[in-house]
Amino acid sequence: MAKTIVFVGGGQMAEALLKGLLQSGEYTAEQFEVVEPSAARRTHLETAFQVSTTVSVSTAVPRAQVVILAVKPQIMADVLHDLKPVLTDQLVISIAAGLSLSFYAAILGKMVPVVRVMPNIPALVQEGASALARNDQVGKEDLAFAASLFGTVGSTSIVEEKQMDAVTGLSGSGPAYVFAFIEALIDGGIKSGFSHQAAAELAVQTVLGAARLVQATGEHPAVLRGRVCSPGGTAISGLHVLAKNGFHGIVMDAVEAAVQRSIQLGRC
Ligand SMILES: NC(=O)c1ccc[n+]([C@@H]2O[C@H](COP(=O)([O-])OP(=O)(O)OC[C@H]3O[C@@H](n4cnc5c(N)ncnc54)[C@H](OP(=O)(O)O)[C@@H]3O)[C@@H](O)[C@H]2O)c1
Repeated sequence: MAKTIVFVGGGQMAEALLKGLLQSGEYTAEQFEVVEPSAARRTHLETAFQVSTTVSVSTAVPRAQVVILAVKPQIMADVLHDLKPVLTDQLVISIAAGLSLSFYAAILGKMVPVVRVMPNIPALVQEGASALARNDQVGKEDLAFAASLFGTVGSTSIVEEKQMDAVTGLSGSGPAYVFAFIEALIDGGIKSGFSHQAAAELAVQTVLGAARLVQATGEHPAVLRGRVCSPGGTAISGLHVLAKNGFHGIVMDAVEAAVQRSIQLGRC
């Protein structure tokens, strides 16, 4: 029987997931209900996806087999206190950044199966990278189900919870580094005489194409970089500047700083 899935929180990420799930053709709108306090968001989701919506977990959750928590971390404790009395045997999946599995166990109890997911912002265009970690109440079947849900908005990896800070520093925060890189490429184009629009078109497609080439060939990026650099050519001249200014180390430091910040926030 098709599972009924309740989203608690109908914001950006819930919308991205709903879009991916419905576009995949594996789910129907009748399987979803969204708990969302904002009337404007409820109307938007009902109109865009034909899903039903409500303001209360107590009416929606008892009918569901899966609960996806898509609210901001700051209000998660309140949401869990509302959820606890109406939870029976549902699988709980949370996408809130920074909250550990023990946080959920402390409020819901240790017997509730919880999967913690770290998606990233390209999930909005079904190109996300999501990492999933589970507690010991989650069986293989439920974990596979959770992975298949997030597979509709990009790639998924199963990780140990202790790796979640590293995930946050790499794929969670990574889009911000790539946006900064694209912005710099565009500015380089503008400095060389292009309009913003022309430079942006070239820069975005360059990043997209280079990423797709790494993915499609499975080659180490250093091998592909070597192929682009002909002796005495233009690419090696540009790369020389990046190397001299520590580009590689700066990006590694950025990932490391975000990992450390994630560890720090998790302790608060
Ligand atoms: N966006 C990302 O790139 C990203 C990436 C990874 C993880 N995440 C995680 O995903 C979660 C959701 O993020 P988001 O960007 O989708 O946030 P968002 O757009 O602010 O969505 C959260 C939604 O929850 C609603 N809400 C507030 N209180 C509620 C309650 N008691 N019950 C049910 N719904 C309630 C909010 O309504 P109001 O606006 O009316 O308060 C809002 O519509 C966060 O925990 C975040 O850490 C997001």
